[in-house]
Formats: sequence, C-alpha cells, structure tokens
Amino acid sequence: MEQSGGNGVRVVVIREYDPKTDIERVEQVESSCEVGPNGELSLYTDLLGDPICRVRNSPAYLMLVAEVIDDVGDNERETKEIVGMIRGCIKTVTCGTKFSRAKTGDPVKPMPVFTKLAYILGLRVSPFHRRMGIGIKLVQRMEEWFGDNGAEYSYIATDDANEPSVSLFTEKCGYSKFRNPSVLVHPVFAHRLPVSNRVRIIKLSPADGELIYRRRFSTTEFFPRDIDSVLKNQLNLGTFLAVPRKYNWVGSDKFLSDPPENWAIMSVWNCKDVFKLEVKGASKLRKGFAKTTRILDRVFPFLRLPSLPKIFSPFGLHMLYGLGGSGPMYTKYAKDLFGFAHNLAKECKCGVVATEVSSEDPLKLAIPHWKVLSFTDLWCIKRLGEDYSDGSVGDWRKSQPGLSIFVDPREF
Ligand SMILES: CC(C)(COP(=O)(O)OP(=O)(O)OC[C@H]1O[C@@H](n2cnc3c(N)ncnc32)[C@H](O)[C@@H]1OP(=O)(O)O)[C@@H](O)C(=O)NCCC(=O)NCCS
Repeated sequence: MEQSGGNGVRVVVIREYDPKTDIERVEQVESSCEVGPNGELSLYTDLLGDPICRVRNSPAYLMLVAEVIDDVGDNERETKEIVGMIRGCIKTVTCGTKFSRAKTGDPVKPMPVFTKLAYILGLRVSPFHRRMGIGIKLVQRMEEWFGDNGAEYSYIATDDANEPSVSLFTEKCGYSKFRNPSVLVHPVFAHRLPVSNRVRIIKLSPADGELIYRRRFSTTEFFPRDIDSVLKNQLNLGTFLAVPRKYNWVGSDKFLSDPPENWAIMSVWNCKDVFKLEVKGASKLRKGFAKTTRILDRVFPFLRLPSLPKIFSPFGLHMLYGLGGSGPMYTKYAKDLFGFAHNLAKECKCGVVATEVSSEDPLKLAIPHWKVLSFTDLWCIKRLGEDYSDGSVGDWRKSQPGLSIFVDPREF
C-alpha cells in the first residue's frame, strides 16, 4: 500500500508484532480505541502489558501490526508509526454431528464432526488512521496465515451495533452473519448470593471434567477438541458439578453411566488476570449513584441490595463457560452454580461475571443477568477455501444453529 504526497512517500507495512520494540505504541493505539458501539458510554480494555494475552492460550496464534512509514524524500528522515493491529488464532472445533456405530450391533450414536477454525479478534486501527483501508489490509494478511496453516473457516465476534466492524467484515471481507449468542453480564454484588441447600457442588479434577465434557458436549457447536488443555490451563479456576445433596459422587465414569435425575455443570475462567475493562463516559451523577448503592450494599449486606461495582475504573471479570446439564430441574441447578460462581468472583474481587449462550438456549432465561450490561454478540463466518470436502456437515455456514454453543473462554 503506497501513497505519495508532496516530496514524500507513505507506505503501510503489515508485519508480525515484536514485543521488544512495539509494546508501548501498541498499548497507545489500544487505549485510544473504544470497543463496541459509539454511545454515551464506551468500553475500553487494558491488556495488562501483554498485547498477545487474548490469543496466547490457543494452540496456534499470531499478532500483526500495521506500520505507517513516511519517507519525507531528499534522503531525509524516515518516520515509522504503528497505527493498527490484529490478533488471530486457530484450533479444531465441532461444526456438526454425524451418526455412526462403534461396532456392528451397537446403537447409532451422534459423533462430532470437526473442522479447523480460525478466529480474528482485537482488530484495532488508531482513530487518526481510519477509513484508509488499513483494517481490511490487516484482515487479509491474517487470513493468509490462516490459510497457510490449514484453517477451513474463519470467524469473528463483534457487537451487533458496531457498524464499522460489521460493515468491514460482511461487506468488504466476505463474511456472513452466522450466530447471535447473548453475552449475559451480572455485577458482582458486595453481598453473597444464596445457593439452595438442595444441591451439592463438587469441584471436579480436570480429568473428570474432561470426561463429562467429551461424552456429553462434544457434539455441541464450537466445542474445542483440545478441551483438556482448556481445563488444565492455570486460568481455569475449576469445573463444578451441581448434583442433588444426597448424591454419592465416585467419579465421572460412574456418574455418566448412572447420573442423578438433575445435574448441571459449569467451569470458571479467570479473565481478570488477562485483561481489565473500564466503562468511560458516565456522568458524575451516574457514578455517584453507583457509588452510593455500593456503600449501602457493603454496610448492610443482609439487605441484599443490588449494587454496581466500580466499573468506571478498571475492573476484572470471571467468565462462566461449559454450562449445561440434564433433568427437569436442570436450569435451577445451573442457577445455583451461578450463585456459587458469583460468590467466587466476589472473593476474587471481580467487577462482573459474564457468560455467553446461544440465542436459543433455555439458560438465557435462567441465568441471572442485568439487561443494561448484557448484549447480543454477532458472530460472522467465512469459508477460507473451496477445495476441501464438505464431509457430512456440508457447508457449515448454511447449517441451522443448535440449541447450545460451546463458547471457548480463551477467546472471550
Ligand atoms: C473497525 C475498524 C478496525 C476499521 O478500521 P479501518 O482501518 O478504518 O477500516 P478500513 O479503512 O479498512 O475500512 C474498510 C471498510 O470498513 C467499513 N467501515 C470502516 N469504518 C466505518 C465506519 N465508521 N462506518 C461504516 N463503515 C465503516 C467500510 O465498509 C469500509 O470500506 P469503505 O471505506 O470503502 O467504505 C476501526 O474502526 C476500529 O479500530 N474500531 C474500533 C475497534 C473495533 O471496533 N474493532 C472491531 C472489533 S472486531
């Protein structure tokens, strides 16, 4: 990409991020970019000094920067400035289900169909360099890397109302709108949430968690094939199972062959050590009101006042993922797990707990959240090549959504 003006030449170079030289400028660009729609309030992220943090837990990842190089001519100075960046990662996930028998005579069982999926996140262009084609250039270069590494599809998640981002991907980069999951956000109160005494909550070992997830969730869309590395990651604070109080737990194998009538499972991911968020643009009145509710909640916790934590300065969050279960009271059990997770987030001094569920998921109604903090995410997908077989799923872009999706916490 080259432009000439006066005696000088301006070139935009896309290259790999170098932590030794680029970190300072990348952080400046990051902090100048709001994420989400332009409204009265905007959401900013602080990546805690590690711009790769949101992809580094994936099996393969890359971060690129866009650098503007101005050569003023006459053998004079050359100036360089980083003005944009993009992150991407690749992993294998479930994209559909096929039915097959393990051996002749066995019942037909649903089996996952996997695909290599790439994910684009953290696309940012400095406000002073927008509408110059830099965003598109970053996406195209990232897609080249995806293709070189065998990814079959690429997807992005953006706020439905983020017009620049939606337009860039759907109108200019060949993505189509795919799924509309809901991000459910709940503030962490100063008081604890009650957890019903009908349930017992068990913390599972990563091996027990893996077995339950693989046997019961591996046909869920977006289920990561390397679930074991997700569960063993130090950011995973645990996988929790809610069972009836009197249930005798003796391991996943026994549990799966003879489960109780009702149960629910959930894992907690510590995003707080990866990034912080901050809501900017609130009026003094709004901030004052939030502060007052908080003080009252802290002084009189037994009143259980719904109060807003300090979201107008940097705050951390826990993400709840891998939610599911079975039985007529399963959503009630899931709600108990939510109360438990809220209280864990309170101990860890988080500002909010968040989860993301499919728009069709019955959990959407059961999981407590504040509408004012929650939003609909838009996932857009692109097929990166036409030269591989469609397999038993066909073109994933055209498939019907299932009841649930498995949201990978590494990409939240
Ligand atoms: C989204 C963003 C990366 C776009 O970067 P950019 O370098 O300005 O994008 P480009 O110049 O390559 O624009 C490409 C296309 O995107 C769309 N687009 C970009 N900005 C737009 C805007 N403000 N309004 C509507 N469409 C817009 C247009 O289709 C544009 O093509 P056109 O200029 O021919 O009309 C940038 O606005 C940004 O950093 N926003 C804040 C962070 C963010 O929301 N990131 C996306 C999260 S996934």
